[in-house]
Order: sequence, then structure tokens, then C-alpha cells
Amino acid sequence: MSSPQSLLIRRARMILPDGEWLEGDVLTRDRQIVAVAPEISPPTPVTTIDAEGLTLLPGVIDPQVHFREPGLEHKEDLFTASCACAKGGVTSFLEMPNTRPLTTTQQALDDKLQRAANKCVVNYGFFIGATSENLPDLLLAQPTPGIKIFMGSMHGQLLIDQEATLEPIFGHGDRLIAVHAEDQGRINQRRQEFAGIHDPAIHSQIQDNQAALLATKLALKLSQKYHRRLHILHMSTAEEADLLRQEKPDWVTAEVTPQHLLLNTSAYETIGTLAQMNPPLRSPHDNEVLWQALRDGVINFIATDHAPHTLAEKAQEYPNTPSGMPGVETSLALMLTAAMAGRCTVAQVANWMSTAVAKGYGIPHKGAIAPGYDADLVLVDLNTYRPVQREELLTKCRWSPFEGCNLTGWAVTTIVGGQIVYDKGQVNTQVRGEALTFV
Ligand code: DOR
Repeated sequence: MSSPQSLLIRRARMILPDGEWLEGDVLTRDRQIVAVAPEISPPTPVTTIDAEGLTLLPGVIDPQVHFREPGLEHKEDLFTASCACAKGGVTSFLEMPNTRPLTTTQQALDDKLQRAANKCVVNYGFFIGATSENLPDLLLAQPTPGIKIFMGSMHGQLLIDQEATLEPIFGHGDRLIAVHAEDQGRINQRRQEFAGIHDPAIHSQIQDNQAALLATKLALKLSQKYHRRLHILHMSTAEEADLLRQEKPDWVTAEVTPQHLLLNTSAYETIGTLAQMNPPLRSPHDNEVLWQALRDGVINFIATDHAPHTLAEKAQEYPNTPSGMPGVETSLALMLTAAMAGRCTVAQVANWMSTAVAKGYGIPHKGAIAPGYDADLVLVDLNTYRPVQREELLTKCRWSPFEGCNLTGWAVTTIVGGQIVYDKGQVNTQVRGEALTFV
């Protein structure tokens, strides 16, 4: 393992916590940023990065990923996924409990943390999954960013689709609850109505806007009843955004994925089942309302919901195909390309993909370029465009719904805890991230 040392990043254009831009230098030592100034005299010994012409952002914190280890490593594992993160400028991730075994006990959480310590090149945190029977685990498990509840679109023990079963979870304890909000009752009913249809586009009609709205309404109701910290995962519909705009208590946050902003149901025509995910892709109108909600602060941050499945699995006939798409390698470039096209600012992207996530999940010392913060950083190139190419992807599933899209803002260098973990196409596989803490 390479030991952290002093790193001097010179002549970068960077965004500061007050929203101002600085053209200057950043010095790191022992995993932390120690100085930010127009010009810093290099100490010795020091590794210097000449960042002229590049933009320095706080490393991306991806707050919703499915990395498949343990149990589903044929799709992805913590090493391949974390290498993909490094390439995408993602320096920390929060991973979901639908692995095998499910992450529903302290033992399963400890196992994931141990695996990650051994093989993750970026920082990591793991959710604990709610079942109808593990309230004591939900109250005590640590460290964890929060409790994940699948209100719909999941089978087996992790599905909690009855209000009576949700009540005690919302009513006990005070840690954050993150919900996958889709109403399973409505999905089941519509699945029967549309049975026998193999066009994957039907997926967006089966798991429709109403299914998402019903579940989000219920989660909000329970959160208000118990004054419980709630996070709505991958919000996908205009209706949910309108609801939150009207009544969002200040203890509720929401996220959206790049694919729910940038893709819609027309993607089924071009990429078929590769466009299938939960919650499903929606209409161009939903795209626009979600963008506006994000810009207005109704939606707080961006998550990828990186959910890799193999191409063979995706090649089956709908509805036998699994839902989900990979995302950690493309999310930052997608959002920065949108910024360069005038849909938002680069400063907003840094906030939605790092600063606001650290704040929302209470992750100390992350999400800003300032002395005292952890040296988790990404240098991006906003001057050139390059297409998403399958051969270049590091995710084990080796595909992207954005293949062929010409993007700018690709990570040139990614730094985790003051160590260069990715530089110009190469991952330094000796680097190890750290377990995230949550306050
Ligand atoms: O499409 C999805 N796939 N949505 C989820 O929430 C779960 C994920 C998976 O794990 O495959």
C-alpha cells in the first residue's frame, strides 16, 4: 500500500466552499488538505501535479450504488466497482443491502466493511436493510449511513410494502431512513393487467408514475408523523417533485439519477432492456420537472443507482430481464456535460454530487476544497469531448446506457485521501479507501 504523502496540485481552477472560483494551488498532507492559496511554495518531499487548464472539484460521493458483493460477484465486485469509481471521479460510495446474504445484520455489515477494507480503492459506507423482523439490528448497526427500505420492486425479505410494517421502523430510533418509493400493490396489479407483453417499454407503464407517487406520499406521511429523517432515493416523476415542492419538511431530502434527468422512455427504442430500471425511465416532461426541482433545491443531490447486470442477463426477454444499469463511471461527465450545455453550473454539479451529499448524510470533513477537509479530489478536463466507449469501461458488466454519448468533464486524476488513485487512464490498485463515518 502506498503511504499518503504531501501532494501539491498546481494552477488548478477550483471551486471554493463560498462558491467563489480560485485559480491556484492545493497542498495535501496525511490524507488531508492543509492549504489552498493562489500560490504555495512546495515543501519537500512532495509529489506535484501540474493542473493548468484543468478544473479541481471535491471528489464525488455517490450515495446509492449496488456493488453485488457478496454473492453476486459475476455482475460486479467491490474491487471492480471501486476501480470504476476512481475512473469516474467518485471518491466515496454508499452501497445498498440487496447482496447475498442481505445486509440486514451487524455481522453482514461487518463482513462488507472487511471486504471493502481489503479491496476498495475509494472510501465506502454500507446501508443496513430493513426487514419486517430486524428492528434491533436497525437500531444498533454501525457504522452505517442509514436504513434502506424497499417499499416496492424488490422480492423477499427486503420488501416492506405494508404501512403497518413500516410504522415501527419509522417510530423507533432516529437514524436516517432512505426509501425506494414504489407501491408494490399497484405494481402487482398492473403486472397482471399487462402480462404477456414482452416490449420492455411496458415496464414504465407497469411501474408507473402513480406507483412512485403513492409510496413517496406514504413515506412522507410517516416521516411527518414521527418527525423522522427521511431520504427519497432516485426520485423519478414530476408528481413526486411537485409534492415535495409543496410539502417538504426540512428533515427530508431527495435525490435523482443522471439517467432520470437525461434519458426517457424513448431509450427503450434504441437500447431495449438496457433501459430497464427501477424506478423506470419516464417522459421528457418528467425529465424537465426533475431538472427544475434540482435547480430549485427541492431535490438535494445526485446518485447513480449503479446496478450492474451482465449483458447475457439483459439479453433475456422482458419481463425476465433484471432491472438496473451501471453509472459510476459516467455520472460526473454526464452532469458536467449538461453544465457545459447550460442546464446548470459546474458549481451546482459539485454541490449536488459532493457537498450536499456529505451534508445530507453527515459525513464529516468531506465535500469541500478547504484546509481541514479530507483530500478526496477530482481533476476534470472541461476542454475536450470524448465518447462513452464500452472497451474503456472498468465496471465488470462492461456496458453503459450512454454508450456513444460525447461527453466532457471526464476525470483526468482522482485523489483519495491524498493518494493518486486514478491518473490518465490508469488505476493505482495499491490505494485503499477508508470506511466512512456518519454523525
Ligand atoms: O433498477 C434497479 N436495480 N433498481 C434498484 O433499486 C435495485 C437495482 C438492482 O439492485 O439491480
